[in-house]
Amino acid sequence: MSNPVGDPKTPKTPETPETPETPKKLRRTDVFHPPSSIVDQANVKDYETLYARSIADREGFWAEEAQRLSWYEPWTKVLDASHRPFFKWFTGAKTNIVLNAIDRHLKTPNRNKLAIIWEGEPGDLRTFSYHALNREVSKVANVLKAMGARRGEIVTIYMPQIPELVISMLACAKIGAVHSVVYGGFSVEALADRIQDAKSRILLTADGGFRRGASTSLKEIANAAMARSPSIEVCITVRRTGTECFMESDRDFWWHDLMAMPIASPRCETEVMDAEDPLFILYTSGTTGKPKGLVHTHGGYSVYTATTHRMVFDIKPDDRWWCAADPGWITGHSYIAYGPLINGTTIMMYEGAPNHPYPNRWWQMIEKYGVNILYTSPTAIRGLMRFGNSWSAKHDLSCLRLLGSVGEPINPEAWRWYHEVIGQGRCPIMDTWWQTETGGFMISPLPIMPLRPGSAAKPFFSIEAAVVDDSGRDVAPGEEGKLVIKAPWPGMARTIHGDPDRYVETYWKDYGAQGWYKAGDSARIDEDGYFWIIGRIDDVIKVSGYRLGTAEIESALVSHPRVAEAAAIGLPHELKGNAIHTFVILRHGEEPSPELASVLKDHVSHEMGPIARPESLTFVDALPKTRSGKIMRRVLKARALGQDTGDLSTLEES
Ligand code: PRX
Repeated sequence: MSNPVGDPKTPKTPETPETPETPKKLRRTDVFHPPSSIVDQANVKDYETLYARSIADREGFWAEEAQRLSWYEPWTKVLDASHRPFFKWFTGAKTNIVLNAIDRHLKTPNRNKLAIIWEGEPGDLRTFSYHALNREVSKVANVLKAMGARRGEIVTIYMPQIPELVISMLACAKIGAVHSVVYGGFSVEALADRIQDAKSRILLTADGGFRRGASTSLKEIANAAMARSPSIEVCITVRRTGTECFMESDRDFWWHDLMAMPIASPRCETEVMDAEDPLFILYTSGTTGKPKGLVHTHGGYSVYTATTHRMVFDIKPDDRWWCAADPGWITGHSYIAYGPLINGTTIMMYEGAPNHPYPNRWWQMIEKYGVNILYTSPTAIRGLMRFGNSWSAKHDLSCLRLLGSVGEPINPEAWRWYHEVIGQGRCPIMDTWWQTETGGFMISPLPIMPLRPGSAAKPFFSIEAAVVDDSGRDVAPGEEGKLVIKAPWPGMARTIHGDPDRYVETYWKDYGAQGWYKAGDSARIDEDGYFWIIGRIDDVIKVSGYRLGTAEIESALVSHPRVAEAAAIGLPHELKGNAIHTFVILRHGEEPSPELASVLKDHVSHEMGPIARPESLTFVDALPKTRSGKIMRRVLKARALGQDTGDLSTLEES
């Protein structure tokens, strides 16, 4: 493969990062005003007026936005709230997200526009126009049909960041199958759990992907997960790295073999779906038990992702948009794939690590492809900030117009570096707060708004967000409380796959009397109505912006034969936001040792994936529990931080 982006002038990667020029401490009241060049051309010029209208006439607002999209048949009702909290949007309408993400572009000049620019970590480059994307998606759709895939069946996708991942998602949607993408950084147990919950018959995967110069062995993990998942009948594998892997003769097929067969015709009709038919399920970690598969639909999700993307990132027809997330998470679903493609945007994708082979890799690609908008996470920003200012200074980043942040609160120091060094003081930062459950942005600035570093600014149109106490009363400005959403929105998850009761219990029970959605985050609203997200208030840990459940980590630890009981907590970490700290009670007769601690950490990594590898593992004789036997993680956390452990009247150590 050629390497079109190699930069011979780039010096060697430093072993240790330079000390960054420490930016001056920001005060919470610092305000940044957007440049007039952006305000004058903004898609939305007056937030307050449109927000007031969207609240006064929620359905009218969304009907107007929905009319920008194509539909096979229009809706009879915008919002059906007759079975709260199981809301329905655009009922009666017929659509398919592919009708808007691909098909309608083929009848416009967008047909020949680039849909995807993809660069592999080794430097290989692939591009797809909307026309070419349609042909690829149709081929895969036809192969899936030939393999017996049917409307409504859940197809699991486990791939690295390669174009085939997005193509597979679109191919499933096109034929009415439901995709369940499992993040390529997850490992055996996480993948097997998700395949089993979805009862998938078909798995789409790859032999591996490139990361920091090495190749990952996805097919090996997939093989181990399939061995635990009897529902799988067909596995189709993309050859990406060329690593040898085991293929079972009547189950495994190579992607390229199938795509070369006559069944892989590049013409395929898009299936006509009900607006409320499921488009995908995406598993996310919760407070207890196994991850839950949140269900998103074709209709409302199309409207919501397209509208939020166009308005918050002020999308213009010729924009090159780079959401540097992994498609395996909701950010990738909504803002690599669906929202941008519906808006006819050119999307950038990159396979590998931001600092490989050098810490200028991202800046080099931004310059090379003329990226206008970069949307990433605070962890990535902090990681690149460590290397100082010289790496981005090698590149002309004047093509950038807007920046974005998502996944965790951004600390003001990282905000300022991103703004001054990467955005050169010119590019407003959209700090978007949202969740897997919400489908799209919920609280975010618009490019016309004054920005406060660390604040996600204001609710999006039609979103009634509030910060309340346990009884539902608004807390005073500046005070911490629980974040709730008081009314439905089109992008909301409709249920938890196979467990509607858990959906009600998790999100709608705490404020059941009021009918509000509980986000699971704590937050503050300042005197000017700006929202400041503090973090999770449940047993979810955000590690480098990735969402992990303490229950999953604990269950991985307990699956080791030498472990009797385990507890996991998150503690602040300079780079990752939070890091995982674990406490383990060994089985009778087992002796603690540093070697065993390391074996157990590796075990978690092997079962769940490297992101879940505990930062620390402490052997203990007992764990603090309530009298009903629930581990009191808040006590462990307070102890670790040297804080007051609060009310311990229900505590027992066992
Ligand atoms: O705690 C909040 C944090 O990420 C959680 C949702 O995680 P997930 O479903 O994986 O989706 C992440 C990408 C949308 C939230 O409950 N979070 C997300 N965005 C922000 C954030 N915390 C602070 N600021 C944000 N902008």
